[in-house]
Amino acid sequence: MSDLEKIIREIIAGEGPIPLESFMNYALAHPAHGYYMTRDPLGAAGDFTTAPEISQIFGELIGLWSAQLWTAMGAPNPLRLIELGPGRGVLMQDFLRAARVVAPFFDALDLHMVETSPVLAGAQRKRLENDGVPVAWHRSLETVPEGPAIVVANEFFDALPVRHYVKTPAGWCERLVGLDAHGHFAFTASPIPEDSIRGKAEEGCILEIGAVAQRIARALAERLANQGGAALIIDYGHLETGLGETLQALKGHAFADPLRDPGAADVTAHVDFAALARAARAGGVQTFGPVPQGEFLLRLGVVERTEALMRKASPRQSAELEAALVRLVSTQSEVELTAGKISGMGGLFKVLALVQHGLPQPAGFAEEPTPE
Ligand SMILES: C[S@@+](CC[C@H](N)C(=O)[O-])C[C@H]1O[C@@H](n2cnc3c(N)ncnc32)[C@H](O)[C@@H]1O
Repeated sequence: MSDLEKIIREIIAGEGPIPLESFMNYALAHPAHGYYMTRDPLGAAGDFTTAPEISQIFGELIGLWSAQLWTAMGAPNPLRLIELGPGRGVLMQDFLRAARVVAPFFDALDLHMVETSPVLAGAQRKRLENDGVPVAWHRSLETVPEGPAIVVANEFFDALPVRHYVKTPAGWCERLVGLDAHGHFAFTASPIPEDSIRGKAEEGCILEIGAVAQRIARALAERLANQGGAALIIDYGHLETGLGETLQALKGHAFADPLRDPGAADVTAHVDFAALARAARAGGVQTFGPVPQGEFLLRLGVVERTEALMRKASPRQSAELEAALVRLVSTQSEVELTAGKISGMGGLFKVLALVQHGLPQPAGFAEEPTPE
């Protein structure tokens, strides 16, 4: 039994079953044993791969998107460039390479990385040390200095803990994690019904709420409304708030039991984009999207950039570039290429922009801002 499992068992033995949100928080962020605190989980040797790890073009296009937005903001200098959950720093390295092309934008950049993992913060420091921009690290958004900002968050919101509520014969109850008769972690429901949840639902239905994500989205929006700027949020998730749960764990690129061996697997939930956008609008910004990642990248010129790189590439590199393009934009869950099968991220992943009122529609979004 791992040290973290022992710690959580002791807490449950002393206090009784704990909310799923607390269980996830221990599993992901316990200061000594939490999943993100102890390892670099990304890449082929880790548990999952993200878009910036698949293609350099992803970060480059976000860099150019930001340069255009900065011009629309009136070219503030300094600009706080904030990344939430920056992983190994790959997106930012690609971002900065592209940003160099727009020299006044590059010169205005004051970079702030918001990261809780000491392991990943170390990897980011190493990767960015010679990139020529001032950079600081923070454990939360609150300590980033004031000022106009552009914020980027790729696969950050899915890494935050969620709450579950379950419809029981007694009414809606919070879903807790306790111990079953064999001493294994198991779901149970709080004995006190949650009166504030209304609406018809069958017994056993689950309502998933990303309360931490909504709190952060609102704080982010308040900052952008007061000090200016925009945020680009990219993640996997759904467009409408609805009943059902999406809790999942990934270990070695395969699904695992979310309650098994806390701290050893990545435990995540799909992002409820509708709820995130509502929280942001309540915080005082306009929201654009969400649009599917594939559409967003196609509008930003992912094909043209791939073709440009292919002109200078070897046949093997060209095949890799093509596979990366398909993976980023395809909406199909399985695509057959000569290199093997690939699952497309272009539909499941979505892009949402939070934009200070008064700024125009950012690149990549086809439609008007979402009405209040
Ligand atoms: C799924 S990874 C995504 C990494 C990176 N953005 C990418 O696309 O490769 C989640 C990232 O968020 C960080 N993270 C998780 N919870 C966090 C929190 N509460 N505050 C700041 N960073 C957090 C993790 O350490 C990691 O860097």
